[in-house]
Amino acid sequence: MSKRTVLITGANKSIGFETAREMGQSGFKVWLGCRDAVRGKDAVSLLLSEGIDARLAIIDVTDQESIDAAVGQLKSEDGKLDVLVNNAGIPGIYPSAPEAQSISDIMTVYNTNVFGVIRVMQAFLPLLKMGDAPRIIMVSSGLGSLEWVSDRTHPYSQVAALGYTSSKTALNGVTVAFANGLSEYGISVNAVDPGYTATDFNGHTGYRTVSEAARGIVWLAAEAAQTLTAGFYFDEKRAPW
Ligand SMILES: NC(=O)c1ccc[n+]([C@@H]2O[C@H](COP(=O)([O-])OP(=O)(O)OC[C@H]3O[C@@H](n4cnc5c(N)ncnc54)[C@H](OP(=O)(O)O)[C@@H]3O)[C@@H](O)[C@H]2O)c1
Repeated sequence: MSKRTVLITGANKSIGFETAREMGQSGFKVWLGCRDAVRGKDAVSLLLSEGIDARLAIIDVTDQESIDAAVGQLKSEDGKLDVLVNNAGIPGIYPSAPEAQSISDIMTVYNTNVFGVIRVMQAFLPLLKMGDAPRIIMVSSGLGSLEWVSDRTHPYSQVAALGYTSSKTALNGVTVAFANGLSEYGISVNAVDPGYTATDFNGHTGYRTVSEAARGIVWLAAEAAQTLTAGFYFDEKRAPW
């Protein structure tokens, strides 16, 4: 049987990079989806130096041409994709009160966090259908949980980021839609909250390490039951939608 393959978007640094490293350590051939060639090559070189089977795919999730070119690259090299991790995401201007955040900033956030994921999913679906027990993982956020953000005693309800929080709520909806639509092909689709993690995303204010964040992603990607689908998880446990 050929080696299992995984593609991770936004993999040149932070949570995506650590996920790539840990998936590689567990025996996967890892495709790093990176929008910048230089940053991507540096990230791939680092993983290769650690003995990981890593490859670069230039993917900007807002650019259909780059996605289609990456599909062609994986198709000719592997002919399949086993696991897709939709990790690339942006916060938008923060903090921003709902009445003040501009439509253009919200659209920018949605173009990456929601439409970018849908673009990548639709383009890679034929290769996923050729995969072995295929899985798709959406890197969502606890800030997308309507139960948590509507609970005024929960710290997430204090975060003023309309574009970002609602984009992750939308991503959770996208997760369920694809999970239902792809169940007939045996493709599992789940969302994961990596938790508040110290990365460039938040000026390294998060309390979790990238390794702690990656754990739940790797669990869904490689360890959880294949039958698990249409769920939202934090630290390997169900999180509320
Ligand atoms: N950090 C947290 O506390 C936290 C909590 C909950 C959820 N998350 C989610 O976890 C994911 C990763 O976050 P992170 O903390 O690792 O963020 P990060 O440090 O800002 O890294 C984001 C990654 O996404 C890439 N990216 C951004 N826009 C892209 C695009 N249009 N096309 C392709 N790649 C793009 C970035 O590439 P460049 O280097 O080229 O910019 C970078 O590799 C995001 O979806 C985020 O919403 C994070």
